[in-house]
Amino acid sequence: MRQAKDYNFGISSLPWVSGRDVAGVIEQVGESVTNLSPGDAVFTLTDYTSARCGAFQDYCIAHHASVALIPPSLTFEEAASIPVGAITAAVALKRYMDISAQNHDASQKDIEDWVLVWGGATCTGYYAVQLASLYGYKVISVAGKDNMDYVREAGANVVLDRDMNDTELVDTIQQATSGQLSYAFDAVGPGTAGLCLQAMNTGKSNGNKTLVALAGIPKHAKTAARGGQPVELSKGIFVNMPEIKVKVFHNDPEFGQELLRELTTYLINGQLRVSRIKIMDGGLEDVNKGLSLLKEGQISGSKLVIRVDRTPDAQGDLHYHGWL
Ligand SMILES: NC(=O)c1ccc[n+]([C@@H]2O[C@H](COP(=O)([O-])OP(=O)(O)OC[C@H]3O[C@@H](n4cnc5c(N)ncnc54)[C@H](OP(=O)(O)O)[C@@H]3O)[C@@H](O)[C@H]2O)c1
Repeated sequence: MRQAKDYNFGISSLPWVSGRDVAGVIEQVGESVTNLSPGDAVFTLTDYTSARCGAFQDYCIAHHASVALIPPSLTFEEAASIPVGAITAAVALKRYMDISAQNHDASQKDIEDWVLVWGGATCTGYYAVQLASLYGYKVISVAGKDNMDYVREAGANVVLDRDMNDTELVDTIQQATSGQLSYAFDAVGPGTAGLCLQAMNTGKSNGNKTLVALAGIPKHAKTAARGGQPVELSKGIFVNMPEIKVKVFHNDPEFGQELLRELTTYLINGQLRVSRIKIMDGGLEDVNKGLSLLKEGQISGSKLVIRVDRTPDAQGDLHYHGWL
C-alpha cells in the first residue's frame, strides 16, 4: 500500500490489492466466454479499477478480452513478466506515436525515421526497442553500460551509455539521427524526457514529432503542452506530448484483443524476446521487498517475478495451489 502511494498509483478504495502483471491457470470463466476454459495457462495485464483484479493475491479476475494463452515455449514466470512492459510499449507506439507495422505497409512513413528509446533496459523500454525495430524503424537508445549489449540485441541500431554527460548524449543523438528524429519514448523521468526534447529540437521542421514520456515531462514543457496542443520547440519544430493512458487496453476490448494477438504471435515466432527476469522465492511476502529494491534502483535490466505459490501460511508452511 505504502509503495502504491509512493508511486502515485491509484487506490480508489480500501482495502486494496495492487499488482498488474499476472500469469496463471484459469479457474472459472463467465457463461458467455468462448475464448478461454478452466485449466488454460494464461497471462494478462489486469484492470486497475478494482481490488478484485489486483495481481498480489491468490486469485484475481480479468476481462476475457484482456487475457491471452501463454505461448508453449514460455514459463509462467516469463509470461508474468510481459504484460505491463509489452502492452505499455505497444499502446504507446501504436496509439500515441502512430508507429506500427501497418503504417509501414501503407508506406506512409519514411523508413529512415528514427525512434529514440531513453531507458532501453527498462522493462517497458526493452519492448519499445523491439517493437519499433520490428515495425521497421531505426532505433537509438540510452542504457547503462552493463545493458548496452542487451539493448543492441533487442534491435537498437545505436546504443549510448547513460553515463555520458547530457550535452554529449544530446549531440550524439542528433548527429546519429541526422535530424531524422521524429519519435521519442522516455521510460526514465522528467529529466531525461527533457533531454529527448532537446534531441528532437533539430532537423526536419515539417510535420509534428512525438514524445511519449512514461514517467513525466519537465515542468516547462508541461505548461507549454497544456491543452494537448503540439509545443513549438523552435521555429517550425513542433512536438506532441500525449499523456499515455494504458487503460485503452481495457476500455477498447477490440483494440486490446488485437494487440494481445499481435504480441502473442511475435512471441510464438520468436520475434519478441522476453525481458530478463529475476525470480523472488518468498511468495507474496516478497512484494514489498521487491518494490523497495526497484525504488532503490537496485534492479538493472530485469523484471522481478514472484511466485504466489511460494507464500507461506501463518505457520510458515507452503501450499501449492497454482501460479500467479
Ligand atoms: N504511464 C504508464 O501507464 C506507465 C506504464 C508502465 C511504466 N510506467 C513508468 O515507466 C517507467 C519505467 O517503468 P519500467 O517498469 O519499465 O522500469 P524498470 O524496468 O523498473 O526500470 C529500471 C531501469 O531503468 C534504467 N534507468 C534508470 N535511469 C536511467 C537513465 N538515466 N537512462 C537510461 N536508463 C535508466 C536502468 O537501466 P540501466 O541499469 O541500464 O541504467 C534500470 O534497469 C516507470 O517510471 C514506470 O512507473 C508508466
